[in-house]
Order: sequence, then C-alpha cells, then structure tokens
Amino acid sequence: MIALGIESTAHTFGVGIVSSDGNILANVSDSYVSVKGGMRPFDLAEHHSKVAPRVVRSAFKEAQISKSDIDLVGFSQGPGIGQALAIGGAIARMISQVLKVPLVGVNHPIAHIEIGRLVTGAIDPLIVYISGGNTQIIAHVEDRYCVLGETLDIGFGNAQEKLGRIIGLPFPAGPHMDRIEGRWIDLPYTVKGMDLAFSGIVTEAERRIGRGERVEDVVWSFMEVCLSMITEVSERALAHTRKKELMLVGGVAASPKLREKLKIMCEDRGVKFSTPPPSLARDNGAMIAWTAILAHQRGEHVDIEASHIRSTWRLDDLVWPLIDLNGC
Ligand SMILES: Nc1ncnc2c1ncn2[C@@H]1O[C@H](COP(=O)(O)OP(=O)(O)OP(=O)(O)O)[C@@H](O)[C@H]1O
Ligand SMILES: [Mg+2]
Repeated sequence: MIALGIESTAHTFGVGIVSSDGNILANVSDSYVSVKGGMRPFDLAEHHSKVAPRVVRSAFKEAQISKSDIDLVGFSQGPGIGQALAIGGAIARMISQVLKVPLVGVNHPIAHIEIGRLVTGAIDPLIVYISGGNTQIIAHVEDRYCVLGETLDIGFGNAQEKLGRIIGLPFPAGPHMDRIEGRWIDLPYTVKGMDLAFSGIVTEAERRIGRGERVEDVVWSFMEVCLSMITEVSERALAHTRKKELMLVGGVAASPKLREKLKIMCEDRGVKFSTPPPSLARDNGAMIAWTAILAHQRGEHVDIEASHIRSTWRLDDLVWPLIDLNGC
C-alpha cells in the first residue's frame, strides 16, 4: 500500500509519499519565510495555495510513481492554524475524490511521534516534542499518548520567534538565535512541576534589551535558560516514568544546543537518546502519509462530510495503542 500525506498546520506545506513497509518514497516541502518576521494566517494560506501544485508534482517525481499507485490520502487534520489547515484539507479531499481512494485525518503530534519511531527505531520512548506551536513531554500510557508536561502559554519555537521579531531577525528566527554566543545575564526560569512557561522570559528579555543590555547576551541567556528548562522537565519525566529511551521531535530538534543538553542528561541516566533527521523532525508530509497508513490499518477513515479541520485537536483525545513497528 502507498499513501500520500499532506501537511499544512502552520508555515510548512509538505507532501510525502510512503509505503506500508515504511519506505519514504518522497518528502517534499515548501515553508513560508518572511524577512520582517512573524507569520500571519492569511499569508500562510496564500503561500500554501500557491506552492501546492508544484509540491505535489515534485513529490510524484521524487517517488517515481504515478497517480494510480496511490491507495490512500492522509492530511493533517489538526491541531494548527485554521487558515493553513484548511488549504491542506481541501487539497487532500480533492485528491482522494479524484483518485477514488480513502481519506484519513491525521493528528499532527502523533505523526511527529510515529515517523520518529519509524526512523530512529525507538520503541516506547519518552517523547520531547518541541516546535513553534507545541512544547510537550509525552509518554505512551495504556492505550494513548499522554501529555505529562507542557507549556502553560506559548510553544518554545514561538517564544524564539517573538524575541526574534523584537530584535529584527527574519522568520524563522530559531536557527539564527541558536548560533548567537554571548555572556550570562539572569532571566526568569519558569518550571512548574512538569510544566513550563515562556512568555515571561520573552517579556523580560525585551525589557533588558530596552535597558541597553547587549542583544547577544540576552539571546544567548534566553536560549540557555529555556533549553535548560526543557531538559529539567524531561529529566523529571524520565525519573517518573522510568522510560529507557528519549526521543526528541519537532522543528527545534534541529538545535544542536538542545540535542547536546538532552544527550548529556540521557547519558547521565543511562537512557538512549534519539532524534530523527531534521527533515523528518520538523513539519513534513512523510509523517502524515506514514501515520495515515497506521490509522488505515486500524480501519480509521474519514468521510468527506466529517473531514473538517480540528484546530484544537489534542493528541491525548485519541485512543492510539502502541503499534509494534518491528519489521518496518
Ligand atoms: N536550529 C534551530 N534552533 C532552534 N530552533 C529551530 C532551529 N531550526 C528550526 N527551529 C525552530 O523550529 C520551529 C518550527 O518547528 P516545526 O517545523 O515543527 O513547525 P511548527 O509549525 O512550529 O510545528 P507544530 O505545528 O508541530 O507546532 C521554528 O520556531 C524554528 O525557529
Ligand atoms: Mg509540527
């Protein structure tokens, strides 16, 4: 079986083509960028509509298959930004109708996890999911993925983007901020049990810059504080769950600093650290295609009439038994 998956929860429009034996035949994407910073929902919708035909064509070319080889269409049904999700949903419905193949609405965070398990070989890890919109510490318990800890306000990536906008960096600012070196200044460290919060740190960072502190020092300290907070809650979750593996997913998994901090903590605890390559850790279509296959194997399809987007759909709303990927 071959599935085509469409991702469009936020700034990335992605199309992936994956076979049921776990082969990623294509993974093509085009992400919205802006020089001035930030992303407005309307601009995302316009971007996705414009790039969609080319991205779909490139995916078929990369996979070297024809349209009639597709058995299933999956799309990111949520959570995400409504206007962006709507474009991917509309294109997925159309393709499934034209090809006369079933449609599967995929939960985006579960897709991050399942593609990670497929390519890293992690079996039942503690999952550290850090992206623009999401910051969650997740573990599989009984029949679902449970959120053990999460941001109480904005995702870490969005906190980076806010600070990036303040200092005039282009969007996405994360990769630029990750490379800035500076000296330590005190910023608020906000961990509450297994939850964390980032808004106050951004506000204080902005205040410090307004008071004339060196931007490099503020940015470097901001990254140090936030990434240490993420590492602390991850370690606490490992202690509670006694999981022996930790898997880092989401766009911020590309951060060498975050990977390093988590790796050192895992080594200290005798825990195996893994993370997919950045092309599969950030938003991408392959993860949607693969998760659509897993959902299809359990008989989960969605009728066109019920295929509306679900912008606030949490992963713990879903019954999702741990799937044995042995053999993929
Ligand atoms: N090297 C890096 N260091 C730090 N942050 C990074 C790096 N590379 C990318 N990022 C950040 O990752 C975030 C994007 O993550 P992702 O591609 O998962 O998209 P998303 O729309 O935020 O996803 P989700 O819908 O899952 O929240 C951006 O905030 C970006 O700045
Ligand atoms: Mg994502």
